[in-house]
Amino acid sequence: MCGIIGVVGGGPAVPILLGGLRRLEYRGYDSAGLALAGDGALLIRRSVGKVAALADKVAGDPSDGPVGRWSSGIAHTRWATHGAPTEANAHPHFDRSGRIAVVHNGIIENYRALRARLESSGHVFASETDTEVLARLIGDRHHGDLKSAVIGALREVEGAYGIAVLCADDPSRLIVARKGSPLCVGVAEGRVLVASDPAALVAHTRQVIHLDDGDVAVLTADSVEVSGLDLRPRHRSPDELPAEAAVAERDGHEHFMHKEMHEQPESVRNALRGRVDLVNGDSVLAGLGRGEDGEDAAVRRAILLGCGTSLHACMVGKFAFEELAQLPAEAEQAAEFRYRNPLVGPDDLVIAVSQSGETADTLAAVKEARNRGARVRGLVNVVGSAIARQTGRGVYLHVGPEVSVASTKAFTGQVSVLLLMALRLGRARRLSRERGREIAMEIDRIPSMIERVLELESAAIRAAERMVESEHAFFLGRGPMHPVALEGALKLKEISYVHAEGYHAAELKHGPIALLTEGTPVVVIANRSPVRDKTLSNAEECRARGAGIISLVTEGQESVPGAWGELRIPDCDPLVATVPAAVALQLLAYHVARLRGCPIDQPRNLAKSVTVE
Ligand code: F6R
Repeated sequence: MCGIIGVVGGGPAVPILLGGLRRLEYRGYDSAGLALAGDGALLIRRSVGKVAALADKVAGDPSDGPVGRWSSGIAHTRWATHGAPTEANAHPHFDRSGRIAVVHNGIIENYRALRARLESSGHVFASETDTEVLARLIGDRHHGDLKSAVIGALREVEGAYGIAVLCADDPSRLIVARKGSPLCVGVAEGRVLVASDPAALVAHTRQVIHLDDGDVAVLTADSVEVSGLDLRPRHRSPDELPAEAAVAERDGHEHFMHKEMHEQPESVRNALRGRVDLVNGDSVLAGLGRGEDGEDAAVRRAILLGCGTSLHACMVGKFAFEELAQLPAEAEQAAEFRYRNPLVGPDDLVIAVSQSGETADTLAAVKEARNRGARVRGLVNVVGSAIARQTGRGVYLHVGPEVSVASTKAFTGQVSVLLLMALRLGRARRLSRERGREIAMEIDRIPSMIERVLELESAAIRAAERMVESEHAFFLGRGPMHPVALEGALKLKEISYVHAEGYHAAELKHGPIALLTEGTPVVVIANRSPVRDKTLSNAEECRARGAGIISLVTEGQESVPGAWGELRIPDCDPLVATVPAAVALQLLAYHVARLRGCPIDQPRNLAKSVTVE
């Protein structure tokens, strides 16, 4: 999603800003821009498309001019929300005087009313964005004290923001503020930086202050002063960024997605490390309740919240919680949670599942659940992220940075850890030690099972070749494989642009089967399970209508008759099998997208972390 980088002090700003924007590219964007300040003036460059286009524009400026010398600047990659991706809508935006520049992540929800008010007082807007409203509000309040002007404007806006503000009158300082959209400050030698993602800072410093909601900070080359909107000082000290925050390289893989799929044996091993208790048939998760006296042993219901791929992990988790812990469980789209007046209270265990830890909908749901007194835990990958901090307690995924927009290793890590959570809750309740040991052993085998599935790449390529010309595809599964079917379809649609739908295998005949025509690919998950025969009948119904079946079966099982292609996963417990099955479908989606020549790591319209509602 949108990215911010800003710098004050320590030499020319341009290379720092462009380098930072490149580090943020993986998040997805459609235009970019920067503003520099010095010698009492502002200089702005913006362009549609990639950061390279902006860099070309900047390279056209004379190097002995402002571009080469000024050391204060702000820059932005924009993922369009209000207004098309045009140069006029690209950030930075300006106040009426053109002397104050603003970059902004998030959404100003009351911007229409504010814009109408500003227009009625003579403002003529240059863009369709909500950000320009904020810039103009700041400008109208600016009478020499930029921080007060920013605070005055922020008091008027509703919504989410991470902002950086630069003024021609005083290039030696940047004003930054956050509410609901991440922002961190990097403290380096003779220079202070700000970014929406620590990945943009690690080339310059590992000393990072994570701003909290409501923080406003004044940055100079050698100081960071943080206060609230009430002007009261807030103490913030830098944390050392973990080494893994450094942006990963592709390491010889054609795409980050390919690299991350192949990292999964190791990433899941890291997620499980020290957490599987094979002797007692239990798991060790310090962030959850402890032992039979643990508070979580007393919960009445689990509610798993997430969005997209993380929601699919929650849906698998629901099966695991009900089967292993005998605990009623629900998986819910996080965006829905706070708007439906949920019946949630102190007996409920709410688990927020998020790779980025910044997803606005999930964060809002966490706040709602906390307000209603539920026991809220996070299952988050990014250390120190907003959801991790809001939940306070929980479990980190430890799968390492996920750069590809299409989530892969986060999903397999999430499901593996949710299985461990279900095991822990099960053992704290009624699950026998014996059954616990069986499950613990199966979970422990996940990394080696993924290794086996990754050897299937040539089978996945063969199946992808059969699918590549189709504009539609269906994915069918039952029980815990239903969410895996949804996830397989999501992977395919987001990176290959093939219209793909996942269904419960029994559901197709209730309507969607009308869409099947000769050669429509239908991916059928028919692994070893108590309902395999029923799924096979559903596959037959599709084949009888001309569909091309790609089957996902368990090693040692007979093939699905007449299938176009086949992917085999190791034999294991049907709950645990969700992980290797998901990996097989990732391979399939990846190769369809590759054969179609799609930009796999940066699919159109998508962003890596979705920080707007
Ligand atoms: C799909 C994908 C998204 C995310 C969703 C939630 O491949 O990556 O659907 O899963 O935006 O993101 P997190 O997990 O960061 O909350």
